[in-house]
Amino acid sequence: MAEEKRILCVGLVCLDVISVVDRYPAEDTDSRCISQRWQRGGNASNTCTVLALLGAPCAFMGSLAPGHAAGFVRDDFQRYEVDLTHVVLHLGCTLPISTVISNSTTGSRTILHAASNLPDVTAADFEQVDLSRFKWIHWEGRNPSEQVKMIERVEEHNQKCPATGRVATSVEVEKPRPELYQLLGYGDVVFVSKDVARDFGFCSAPEAVKGLRRHVKTGATLICAWAEHGADAMGPDGQLVHADAFPPPAVVDTLGAGDTFNAAVILALSRGRPLPEALAYGCQVAGRKCGVQGYDGIV
Ligand code: ADP
Ligand code: FRU
Repeated sequence: MAEEKRILCVGLVCLDVISVVDRYPAEDTDSRCISQRWQRGGNASNTCTVLALLGAPCAFMGSLAPGHAAGFVRDDFQRYEVDLTHVVLHLGCTLPISTVISNSTTGSRTILHAASNLPDVTAADFEQVDLSRFKWIHWEGRNPSEQVKMIERVEEHNQKCPATGRVATSVEVEKPRPELYQLLGYGDVVFVSKDVARDFGFCSAPEAVKGLRRHVKTGATLICAWAEHGADAMGPDGQLVHADAFPPPAVVDTLGAGDTFNAAVILALSRGRPLPEALAYGCQVAGRKCGVQGYDGIV
């Protein structure tokens, strides 16, 4: 039997060094954390973790470096059976590391990200990707001018091939950086974060979805998640769709909640589920994630 087509996520992998506290420390104090762990991080990498846990064959495309941190994340990808065919190794670079204070009383996560000299993957790297292996490709917005070229390559492929061979595309615009906003016009599905929505002056997910819709291409779906308020979306029919959040018994760790939401929504849509159902599934899985440390407890 032919191998099930995979979902490819393009973006960042980094190391998250997570210190769990039950009270956020005051500046210039000396205190102990409850526990500390290393965790593979980065939006596209976290989305792969969740897809793998939900039973979806997936692949990660991003840059890796030599060294202990990179060895840890590579082993961890392999533990989740994430395909690494399209990882690009950069000798002479180091892996980015995030220091995270995770407050288990509130679930808040404070991230201090140390970007490194590791370059993002380019359109030239993406030329190597055999598109026929994938049913969906998701981009975490990072280096937009290169990513636009990658998406255009997929669009050209889709125009040439029969409907059954088409690759669906999605884009996440999470960081409020104006250079990323050109990506709103690309992808069949566009995820915008509440930070980006606020940067455009919107105060809620429904407002953001209605206000930003004119930026997405015709026929695209725009989705905005908003923490405990759940998520809103608008598909090609212009109907506003809302899903409530699924609050866990206690919110202990919201690190990667958005990445989890994206994974579950992409999986549901890739399996042909309607938008309201996909949105509710995203909130359900992301809500479960907020109730546990890390990702393994979501299944
Ligand atoms: P991030 O800040 O990680 O990008 P969001 O805050 O937008 O993510 O949350 C993504 C999804 O995670 C929300 O749509 C919601 O379903 C779930 N979520 C996040 N925070 C909470 C919370 N406090 N309670 C319940 N669900 C939550
Ligand atoms: C969570 C996350 C972390 C990483 C940070 C990078 O969404 O991907 O895993 O440290 O964001 O911005």
